Amino acid sequence: MTASEALFARAQRVTPGGVNSPVRAFRSVGGTPYFVARASGAHVWDADGNRYIDYVQSYGASIVGHAHPKVVEAVRAAAGDGTSFGAPTEREVLLAEEITARVPGCEQVRLVNSGTEAAMSAVRLARGATGRDRVVVFAGCYHGHSDGLLAGGGSGVATLGLPASAGVPAAAVGDTLVAPYNVVPEVEKDVACVVVEPVAANMGLVPPAPGFLAGLRQACDQAGALLIFDEVITGFRLAWGGAAEVFGVTPDLWCFGKVIGGGLPLAAFGGRRDVMEHLAPAGPVYQAGTLSGNPLATAAGLAVLSLLDRDVYAGFAARVGRFAAGLLDALGSSLPGRVQVPVAGPLVGVFFSAGSVTGYEGARASAGTGLYPGLMHGLLERGVAIAPGAYEILFPSLAHSDADLSGTVEAFAGAAADLARADPGRAVPGADS
Ligand SMILES: Cc1ncc(COP(=O)(O)O)c(C=O)c1O
Repeated sequence: MTASEALFARAQRVTPGGVNSPVRAFRSVGGTPYFVARASGAHVWDADGNRYIDYVQSYGASIVGHAHPKVVEAVRAAAGDGTSFGAPTEREVLLAEEITARVPGCEQVRLVNSGTEAAMSAVRLARGATGRDRVVVFAGCYHGHSDGLLAGGGSGVATLGLPASAGVPAAAVGDTLVAPYNVVPEVEKDVACVVVEPVAANMGLVPPAPGFLAGLRQACDQAGALLIFDEVITGFRLAWGGAAEVFGVTPDLWCFGKVIGGGLPLAAFGGRRDVMEHLAPAGPVYQAGTLSGNPLATAAGLAVLSLLDRDVYAGFAARVGRFAAGLLDALGSSLPGRVQVPVAGPLVGVFFSAGSVTGYEGARASAGTGLYPGLMHGLLERGVAIAPGAYEILFPSLAHSDADLSGTVEAFAGAAADLARADPGRAVPGADS
């Protein structure tokens, strides 16, 4: 028995499914999850000493690579001064200043502990500010696991094939309308907000169609609804100013997470001052948190953002673009016409499809081919870790060296060749969906 197998057996006795977040359990890909013992830069080592080139990178919470010395030092120094106070600190101000400086139109932010909290609180704020209840979301997007936002969700909800979740009362989703991604829905005058991932990254990677985000802006303006960009993945990964900068569309509210916490539990929601001032204590919309603005998390977030100047992004996206082209070649040589490798800035996805995927139907059809588990395990055997779920994406980090990237392309070529040998006739969806 490997050390990971032994740990998983113990974990399953004391934790439901043996994990603290469902996709980690490998249920949809089979096998035993590797337990991580340590990580550095682009690599993780499991409890058995195996090294993997890591594209999970804490599902995007890590952008500069694991255990970056500047981040480690910032956290170490902060810890020495106390880990939580229940009173405001300077670093909270600095982080809010950094975020608002990068994002025109985002005048105030509130720090929270997870992306789930950020999205849940942003929706409450939108409802409080507009006096309306209904919320529009898009199939295959994921905004965390709060009741009203799970409907039609991507990521783990999709991986486990759940329509939403047991335990969510019908009333909690009664005001949630689920629309297809990349189609501008009709927004009625009773809608409080439209919540969207500006680049969908929880049903594989689905970039917005030209005009989609601008169309949402227009539809919200006409209905008097607020537009919320959930930038928990895209924020400060896609560009210095996030997705709003890339697509030239300014929402009313933003959700941030992952990158801004530098691998520690931290997220934020923010927006126009007149909307944000509905929040307690300035206004009547209640939201709070014992650990919000945590000293270690703000120290890590500030350290990471200090490493992400404007120059970083163009080079990062260009390198990842070349890498993605390499992956497409590697996969395509054994599975010609059956693979798509979408890319948006430094985000990369893999679909098993003959045509490009523009929404959840296409993403589900790709997952339904059943090819992803074989690819994922073939890569793991070759020392490359991608997420154990067909709806997840790859997160190359700034720490991935040219050797890491070219080694990964080779591993993809090998894994794809095995897949093709094992099942040469496996069909993939053809339509653009
Ligand atoms: C776009 C988006 N929003 C919200 C969340 C929820 O964040 P968390 O897992 O920190 O609660 C995620 C998590 O993956 C996400 O990708």
